[in-house]
Amino acid sequence: MATEVQNYEGALDKGLEGVVACTTSVSSIIENTLNFRGYTIEDLSQNASFEEVVYLLWNDKLPNKSELAAFRADLDKEMKLDAAFIQVLKGIPTKVHPMAWLRSAVSLLAHWDVDANDNSHAANLRKSLKLTAKMSSIVCAYDAIRNGKDPVQPVAGKSIAWNFMYMLGGGKEPDAELVKIFDTCLVLHADHELNCSAFATRVTASSLSDLHSAVVSAIGALKGPLHGGANEQVILMLKKIGTLEKAQQFVKDALDAKEKVMGIGHRVYKNGDPRAALLRKFSEKLTQKIGEPQWYQMSSLIDDTMYKEKGLMPNVDFYSATVYYSMKIPTDLFTPVFAISRIAGWCAHAFEQYANNRIYRPRGKWNGKNGLKWQDLDKR
Ligand code: COA
Repeated sequence: MATEVQNYEGALDKGLEGVVACTTSVSSIIENTLNFRGYTIEDLSQNASFEEVVYLLWNDKLPNKSELAAFRADLDKEMKLDAAFIQVLKGIPTKVHPMAWLRSAVSLLAHWDVDANDNSHAANLRKSLKLTAKMSSIVCAYDAIRNGKDPVQPVAGKSIAWNFMYMLGGGKEPDAELVKIFDTCLVLHADHELNCSAFATRVTASSLSDLHSAVVSAIGALKGPLHGGANEQVILMLKKIGTLEKAQQFVKDALDAKEKVMGIGHRVYKNGDPRAALLRKFSEKLTQKIGEPQWYQMSSLIDDTMYKEKGLMPNVDFYSATVYYSMKIPTDLFTPVFAISRIAGWCAHAFEQYANNRIYRPRGKWNGKNGLKWQDLDKR
């Protein structure tokens, strides 16, 4: 493209739709489903633990028995939060959205990391391990601190999913079935090709900035309601609708008003998001388990109505909302829960970007004024 962008005649790719910005072997949407390193999400969600998926994303291979045991032991060592760090966390005001708090907390974590200034791959692997191990401890610490309690520390030898439920539940043994389903949710959310937050990670990494900075950029991107923030918005929408009878009309009114129905639609999947199909089953099961099947029924009706009216289908955030609600996870922690999983993918994208880097630097087509002449202050 010429440097003369004001005269650029080509198509403007608003939102970069269809633009291929890099090569990647981390994950991709192939034949209508999501693949991590060559394995379909259906296969992984059926068989893998979250820890195995993290290993797979970072090492481009599934771990064998001893590699998995060593990886779990390394994560175990890093899950706990230092007393000094907790003290600092207690000083961050909690009256902001938890994603804003998480963004600050993760940024602060770099100050305790001896590898913070080392951008070698070995150091980035160590930092990724620490970030992934600590993310759920930090999210649960937020919830404890805002409720005036001391954060519960994680238990060694247990999974990230188990520990999240244990810490969030104030140190009570979590329900085994919920832990299993939550672990699968973490698997489903671990990566998703060049989504907005993965791209944000890669853009920051492409200036050869450090891993914490790249992850902080990603958290900021995930926070928005058009990306990870949609899962929280879905439950708020269901609560606002209130009853099954009102669901269809709500959708029609939203479409008439040109408003977005949260958790619906996707830039890439036009025949449905495979993760939504998997989460839908959990939503049906768990809303029944807690005796509130109306939330699944409403979701299902909204899903059908959106398809009939607009040909749009649910994305990952639509049914995960009622799954997390049924697990008694506070609504405003739904997006931080997304981050607990997606940290795995962000780190994998950062590794790939550093290994084959060229700084991201697109152009903007000029539509501003030209040829203005300076006016002195007293003449304006
Ligand atoms: N509700 C109502 N209409 C929607 C919609 C939704 N959730 N998603 C897309 N549309 C409509 C748009 O209004 C637009 O209609 P038009 O062509 O008649 O103007 C068309 O579908 C294309 O939408 P657009 O926003 O340009 O698609 P996109 O590829 O830029 O955005 C999303 C994709 C996911 C951001 C978008 O579908 C959305 O905002 N969904 C709701 C938020 C959400 O669930 N985000 C989580 C993503 S995983």
